[in-house]
Amino acid sequence: MKKSRTLFQYPNLLMLIGVWLGLAPTANYAQNAVVVPIETKNNALVLATDKANRLCITHFGKRLKNTADYAQIAQQHWNKDDNAGIYNAAYTSSGSTNLVEPALNITHADGNTSTELKYVRHESVQSDMNVVHTKIVLKDEIYAVEITLHYKTYANEDVVEQWAVIKNNEKGAIELEKYASANLYFAFENYYLTSYHGSWGREMKPEETLLTNGIKTLDSKLGARTNLFAPPTFQLSFDRPATEEEGKVLLGQLAWSGNFRIDFEMDSYHHLRLMAGINPHASEYPLEAGQEFTTPALIYTFSDHGKGAASRNLHRWAKKYRLLDGNGSRLTLLNNWEATYFDFDENKLTGLFKGAKKLGVDMFLLDDGWFGNKYPRNDDRAGLGDWQENVKKLPHGIGHLVKEATAAGVKFGIWLEPEMVNPKSELYEQHRDWVIRQPERPEHYFRNQLVLDLSNPEVQDFVFGILDNMFSKNPDIAFVKWDCNAVIYNAHSQYLAKTKQKQSKLYVDYVKGLYKVLDRVRAKYPNVDMMLCSGGGGRVDYGALKYFTEFWPSDNTDPLERVFIQWDYSYFYPAIATCNHVTDWSKVSIKYRCDVAMMGKMGFDIVVDHLSPNDLASAQKAITDYNAIKEVVWHGDLYRLSNPWEQPVASVMYVSEKQDKAVMFNYLVSNRFDFIYTIEPIQLRGLDPNKKYRVRELNVYPETKTTLDETAVYSGDFLMSVGYNPDVTLRRTSVVLEITQVN
Ligand code: GLA
Repeated sequence: MKKSRTLFQYPNLLMLIGVWLGLAPTANYAQNAVVVPIETKNNALVLATDKANRLCITHFGKRLKNTADYAQIAQQHWNKDDNAGIYNAAYTSSGSTNLVEPALNITHADGNTSTELKYVRHESVQSDMNVVHTKIVLKDEIYAVEITLHYKTYANEDVVEQWAVIKNNEKGAIELEKYASANLYFAFENYYLTSYHGSWGREMKPEETLLTNGIKTLDSKLGARTNLFAPPTFQLSFDRPATEEEGKVLLGQLAWSGNFRIDFEMDSYHHLRLMAGINPHASEYPLEAGQEFTTPALIYTFSDHGKGAASRNLHRWAKKYRLLDGNGSRLTLLNNWEATYFDFDENKLTGLFKGAKKLGVDMFLLDDGWFGNKYPRNDDRAGLGDWQENVKKLPHGIGHLVKEATAAGVKFGIWLEPEMVNPKSELYEQHRDWVIRQPERPEHYFRNQLVLDLSNPEVQDFVFGILDNMFSKNPDIAFVKWDCNAVIYNAHSQYLAKTKQKQSKLYVDYVKGLYKVLDRVRAKYPNVDMMLCSGGGGRVDYGALKYFTEFWPSDNTDPLERVFIQWDYSYFYPAIATCNHVTDWSKVSIKYRCDVAMMGKMGFDIVVDHLSPNDLASAQKAITDYNAIKEVVWHGDLYRLSNPWEQPVASVMYVSEKQDKAVMFNYLVSNRFDFIYTIEPIQLRGLDPNKKYRVRELNVYPETKTTLDETAVYSGDFLMSVGYNPDVTLRRTSVVLEITQVN
């Protein structure tokens, strides 16, 4: 019996280039099946050929001790009717005998619409002790189309990145009508999907559904700002809903900043089929002879110890392998958006620099409104696209501001929205051909603006040039907030029309164009911190985050709302990437606002001079305390202790790798009489049960005292078994605790 051994048995061998096995299958499944286990430290996805040499998924879940056992899994399942090899196909094609939702749908060069994929060969390459890249080649025996399935595993993090490459070896062009990144198959008792929905200011609202027969689809067709109503991000619990500490759960995301579609289809065996990829809606993609198409990746992690473990794995993976400078440091900042909106000039700004210094942050971030002359950017109706300093507001230019900020002792950052244009702009007047718009229809605007056509290489040059110009003129710029406020209406590209390409390429080529620009930006400017923003959290995904150090979760900075928004983002993104700003959006105390911002990457968006002396001292103290704990918040492990959707107090903590330091954030989220103080202790997590710790309250408001006994020493065992009561009350609505090992 031929079967591949687990890669971990031959690490040295696998350091070499993998071997193409080229196995020739025979008709007898049991004796000749090719078995390909895709393993991480705790999990395995097992693929095996059936008697027709189709590649099927035979196992998803726990990794088995003996690799040889994987070959026996398939025989234990008795769903061997006509659908076997189709329902659980590793990459379901369409047009022949498959009648379920496909991963792949192709019109071949001769117009034929059928594809049947057979296993050809596979190889695995281990790039280091943690990362293995397995490629499996499938082919149609009649039409010369080759699909390579890619599985990149990160063993310690239990993360898999899965994508597909479609190659056209036919004589003429083929058309891709559906081209999913990943196809998975799960056999469990029940399936509970947590998906997210929202809109501007209401991002990441979770919704848990028991999946029933039929198809549940998560998708976006917005073109740009694609996560406005839903992100390509989900949790899938198996058997029963997972909790923080218990249960089987998969956290997944399509790493793509454009239209996406994720289908969950239950088959007649009560098994679940998952197909995730670029949304095929209006996106038939032609592939010339000899060309290949690489899909974005589905990224997922599976845990049978609950959501907490799954998300810590995803955070570790993101920090090490995906987020730009994920293990580095970040700049605290003062932003002027909510402080001034468009109403500022040089003097007002230099005054704010002093405020930034007084507050104690690292940087000042100049937001929207600094550009445009023929059409000054004094509101959001004009000027977008004209990236020259407004001479009235900034007579001495950005260079002067950078110098002034430096003199005031803070770094300088700037807001850009390079993909977009107001019709009231010189750019629009000169380059209407660069704008996505239907030439025969009236224009329709989203926030008074239109989207530039990034499928056009000239537009890519223009967008790259905005950043390149800014950095070459002002090499000391330390930060860019990259915004993207509009969806794509009237999707039509004049460039594609002129070059006689299909309009249906636009949605895909827009994102590819965006990534090309970002590749160029990062090749030339690898170190500048950049925030991914999109009218709040309209674009947050691991496709884009490889170019960005952080993201803006929402324009909604009401701290109470933020507790919920940050909570739900925290399943997928590490705190170091999550920008939280203190603003005047709500009237709650400055302390509560600061405490909420401290659980991620902290910033401010206030007029410092408007703060009362005590509020100023409180904000300053918050920054000093934040600087003392930020290492743990940025690089530690996150434990969600008390869920604001279920409890009156939200509580999260971060623990350092050495378990010698931790921070616990507690926020009251209810004002109902029954719940206005923490009656019971909250159990901590992630500490060393054998270590002793002292608990100290941080960020205590001036002229008040902590109510806690800071002299007591507790064992980790006590803090995790009995817990600790932070004494959250109506007078102490937020409490931040530092937990330090006592020598
Ligand atoms: C978007 C961003 C805000 C701000 C404004 C400026 O809405 O999310 O933070 O930058 O644009 O116009």
